Amino acid sequence: MDNIVSLAKRRGFTFQSSEIYGGLSSCWDYGPLGSALKRNVKDAWWNAMVESRPDIEGIDCSILMHPRVWEASGHIEGFTDPLIDCRTCKARYRADQLDQAQCAVKPSKKPGEHSECDLTEARNFNLMFKTFMGPVEDTASVVYMRPETAQGIFVNFQNVLTTSRQKIPFGIAQIGKSFRNEITPGNFLFRTREFEQMEMEYFVKPGEDEPWYDYWAKQRLEWYRRLGIRDENLRMRVHEAEELAHYAKACVDVEYKFPIGWSELEGIANRTDFDLRRHAEHSGKDLRFFDEAARERYFPYVIEPAAGADRATLAFLVDAYDQDDADGEKRAVLRFHPTLAPVKVAVFPLMRKEGQPERASKIADSLRTHFTVQYDQAGSIGRRYRRQDEIGTPYTVTVDHQTSEDDTVTLRDRDSMEQKRMKIEALIPELSTRLAQPWQR
Ligand code: GAP
Repeated sequence: MDNIVSLAKRRGFTFQSSEIYGGLSSCWDYGPLGSALKRNVKDAWWNAMVESRPDIEGIDCSILMHPRVWEASGHIEGFTDPLIDCRTCKARYRADQLDQAQCAVKPSKKPGEHSECDLTEARNFNLMFKTFMGPVEDTASVVYMRPETAQGIFVNFQNVLTTSRQKIPFGIAQIGKSFRNEITPGNFLFRTREFEQMEMEYFVKPGEDEPWYDYWAKQRLEWYRRLGIRDENLRMRVHEAEELAHYAKACVDVEYKFPIGWSELEGIANRTDFDLRRHAEHSGKDLRFFDEAARERYFPYVIEPAAGADRATLAFLVDAYDQDDADGEKRAVLRFHPTLAPVKVAVFPLMRKEGQPERASKIADSLRTHFTVQYDQAGSIGRRYRRQDEIGTPYTVTVDHQTSEDDTVTLRDRDSMEQKRMKIEALIPELSTRLAQPWQR
């Protein structure tokens, strides 16, 4: 993890939030390469879950919602973690993770084991961030920052149904920020208090929920594989009954072997008709689906694949990280799937003479209308290759003295390091074909 965090900072993937003021704990900003990588992750999800499917609609809801949404969803009552404080040092721990925690004063001991520890009883701590709407800070103006994007989908179920002409089974998807006042955030992007979710609620006929649950679990695992995550680093873990969220009948996690160990990447839950029923009860609106063929009205069941955009970005970054030898030197290389790579093509002049920089920069401009391109003329050619390998650029185009003679350049592949000489005019079709091909490490 240390290698990843240091590369991420050095190359502009992530910076600590408010760094010049000493940083804000477990809040991260994405730099030029990180924001491009995360955008590519979200685009790949949106393409797989919305654009390529006739049965799924996308929406984008506001973060602040009516406070009664959270009463109905059960979050005000039940979205809590058990919290323990130390009266001496003021450290806070999750009661259910006490045996894995370290005493804040004496890290070689567990909380409670040091002679000066004075722990409180466990009490439930609600994870929702609270704020006030309007200028008056009273209980009537309390609103919450949404802790999941899913509720925006449930409260818009009828709106989407009536405006989209979808019929059950169908889904509604959303990507957006969620907020949780986590007691123990940390491990870089893995657990933060502000994060982005990619969630889809798939509405099905009751009784048909279990096959759909299996279907979505397989689809989601396959999505990570297709985007290059190694099989040996992925597994599915079924939740035990006592782990299930208050709304779920079943849940399976896609887990990734992070440097901190196997941990949840995404959860696929069978949320039954819990949410629609509760919102119907609390709002007084009929949120049932009318099945015209069967002439019956029912609350659909919901299968929910819920992923984190930041956690997925971290997994793609970790899985891509590799070190090997290139020309007798150690190189760090990010073997991103080309779809996710922040920069697709780098263009270099071999030398800063004979008009090579002008030619290379013209080529970079012509490629830029099709791909994300970086132009680089600083330092030795070897160092420029290393720089691009380190940020995961799949292809590099080099202009040299032969270019002025026959309009050819070399095209280098990041993974095999093979170089091919080709005509400049063939670059766009060649790169388009290569970037669209299925990719494997
Ligand atoms: N709507 C269901 C739901 O929110 P969840 O398992 O709590 O389920 C779904 O969250 C995904 O959101 C997780 O698998 C994870 O990828 C991401 N996520 C949840 N809490 C997070 C946090 N504090 N920091 C980063 N990502 C988080």
